[in-house]
Amino acid sequence: MTQASDWQGGVGRAWAEEWQRTDRTFAQLTPALLAAIAAQPGATVLDIGCGAGELSLALAAARPQAHVRGVDVSADLVAAAQRRAAGLGQVRFELGDAGAWADPAYRPDLLVSRHGVMFFADPPAAFRNLAAAAAPDARLVFSCFRHPAENGWASAMAGLVPKPASPPDPHAPGPFAFADPDHVRAMLAGWQDVTFQPHDFHYIAGEGDDAQDQALALFRRIGPAASALRQAAEAARPGIEQGLRAVIAAHHRDGQVSFPAAAWIVTATKALGDHG
Ligand SMILES: C[S@@+](CC[C@H](N)C(=O)[O-])C[C@H]1O[C@@H](n2cnc3c(N)ncnc32)[C@H](O)[C@@H]1O
Repeated sequence: MTQASDWQGGVGRAWAEEWQRTDRTFAQLTPALLAAIAAQPGATVLDIGCGAGELSLALAAARPQAHVRGVDVSADLVAAAQRRAAGLGQVRFELGDAGAWADPAYRPDLLVSRHGVMFFADPPAAFRNLAAAAAPDARLVFSCFRHPAENGWASAMAGLVPKPASPPDPHAPGPFAFADPDHVRAMLAGWQDVTFQPHDFHYIAGEGDDAQDQALALFRRIGPAASALRQAAEAARPGIEQGLRAVIAAHHRDGQVSFPAAAWIVTATKALGDHG
């Protein structure tokens, strides 16, 4: 489980410091997400859980006349995004809980997210709020992970992390909360015409001459191994690191350390009659 309070603290700080590496993990997803977004109209954009801002910046470049607003609950990530957008009047990043966000002076007609919508404590309330804050006929396009079993990066790490005492709630806020399309449909209060497009990609953890070191630096800070390292007793850490190095070496080929990954690209339109 990863919730807003984790993002507001160390998890968000690690992502802010590692944004070049986390952007690279999504490098084969982002073009597909941008293509799905390109099929939608919209000139007033809201990027939900914008993180360090790569999607917002790409959208601003693709739509020079559009206004792009990114909202994120992590002050460290908002600061990183603001540094990347310095001098770009078209893009603005702000700190806030997207589930409670509203600005009567800014009614987005295109709401987007790259993996930023699975962490709401109360997803129906958050999506209903976003629909109410959006313009009539607004479109929603976001990506999220499919099931962990389809995401080799997660299953590769499973052996390194302690087994939970009881099976985790598959819908608890976290990277896989939106893996099940039926569940996502039920969560998207205020939105209709929901579609799911599967997209398989390589999650690139490292590349180049020092690909294994790059991957190790990433996984020490981000994801399940990082969380296991944080929580482990001092004496247990070398064992986890050794396992992590073995996983990385096993996935190093052709100059890259990469893992199979599987996402949904979800689209929806604001529900009729929800013109709040
Ligand atoms: C997996 S990261 C993705 C970040 C970014 N979209 C990207 O693609 O690099 C999830 C993001 O959602 C943000 N987030 C989580 N809960 C949020 C909330 N309630 N409101 C706004 N942002 C939230 C986190 O701080 C984090 O930046």
